[in-house]
Amino acid sequence: MGSPHWKRLCLLLLAAFSSSLVLYGHYYATVELPAGQRVIASLLQPEPLLLAPSGTSHPAGSHRALRGSLERESFKPSSQPEERNRRQPSPCPRSVVEAAKAHPAFGELFQFATPVLMWDQHFNPKTWTRLKERHVPYGWQGLSHAAVSSTLRLLNASANRHLFDRHRFPGGCVRCAVVGNGGILNGSRQGEAIDAHDLVFRLNGAVIRGFEEDVGTKISFYGFTVNTMKNSLIAYEEYGFTRIPQAEDLKYIFIPSDVRDYIMLRSAIQGSPVPEGSDKGDDPRKYFGPEVSAEKFKLLHPDFLHYLTARFLRSELLNMQYGHLYMPSTGALMLLTALHTCDQVSAYGFITGNYEQFSDHYYEVEKKPLVFYANHDMLLEAELWRSLHQAGIMELYQR
Ligand SMILES: *[C@@H]1O[C@H](CO)[C@@H](O)[C@H](O)[C@H]1NC(C)=O
Ligand SMILES: *[C@@H]1O[C@H](CO)[C@@H](O)[C@H](O)[C@H]1NC(C)=O
Repeated sequence: MGSPHWKRLCLLLLAAFSSSLVLYGHYYATVELPAGQRVIASLLQPEPLLLAPSGTSHPAGSHRALRGSLERESFKPSSQPEERNRRQPSPCPRSVVEAAKAHPAFGELFQFATPVLMWDQHFNPKTWTRLKERHVPYGWQGLSHAAVSSTLRLLNASANRHLFDRHRFPGGCVRCAVVGNGGILNGSRQGEAIDAHDLVFRLNGAVIRGFEEDVGTKISFYGFTVNTMKNSLIAYEEYGFTRIPQAEDLKYIFIPSDVRDYIMLRSAIQGSPVPEGSDKGDDPRKYFGPEVSAEKFKLLHPDFLHYLTARFLRSELLNMQYGHLYMPSTGALMLLTALHTCDQVSAYGFITGNYEQFSDHYYEVEKKPLVFYANHDMLLEAELWRSLHQAGIMELYQR
């Protein structure tokens, strides 16, 4: 332990996570290093699972359960490994997997075998019993068996089991850009750099027209919840966000944050109006275009959302009165999805330390301060992006 090498490593670790320490003050863990020495590091979280199921489907009961009973069951990845997880050794100079594994703290946090997507084969009595104990978006508590099963049954295409087909990239190094909608992109002239990536993720109010130089035009994935999608159409209409992006190659990533996401997804695949619930009568084709097929849609796995929240974004907000409403932001979920599927990831338009210098979104004409929603923890997300960037696991666009 006394060798200068280990002292240096300790210092580096402490420096890299010094800011995390403020936020994660009580989560210290001792990491066993290969050489047998123990180094005190601030692991972002020491336990695999901390989002407890609530004993009741009442949101009011959830926060007590979240705080009180800590679920100790260990995380078991699904028995059907995702196709994308069968990664060949990556020919990328510095892949996400490689960089994460080389990092003491992140090496422990990332579990690349965790299923990212959910599809028909996941629906079985065992999964139903397990997930109906957890509230959305981490499970199916309070959701009808019929709504969930009828939706999942339709996700039976091989395209539903992976985000993208690796065979399409013979070079073997899939580079992804994830484009948040942050004001930092206004005047950034990053459009060309963004479009140079193999795959581009966008989300919510992703205005493109008029901002091509700053944000590019390419779009491979659009991520959303039905709630954020519809809110974006209303809130950003004045900035030109008048319809959800549509393109032949574009795939939609549903975040299952509510029963309406399952119901909308089912209607979207069937190409018919929503028959029930808060979106009743809505025609999904007006959002996703006339092309109807299961291949167009991906559904994030509730276990993946659980794993991400427990390991990467376990906010203090979870301990507060409205803890049951907390979840990572849409942007965070897209960026973490990319980090678990792509070989290299660049993040544009995500929150940075100097966010106060920029407007909320890149398309606002007059500067508006960043809105901190009560159900997200943007400062915690900012810390995570900074740490991942410093660890060389992804590249965060900053200016
Ligand atoms: C998927 O399910 C639908 C509806 O049950 C069926 O028509 C279709 O043939 C199935 N596709 C595959 C690839 O199994
Ligand atoms: C964004 O950029 C445009 C064009 O340069 C500018 O007119 C606008 O004021 C900028 N918006 C903000 C919020 O800075």
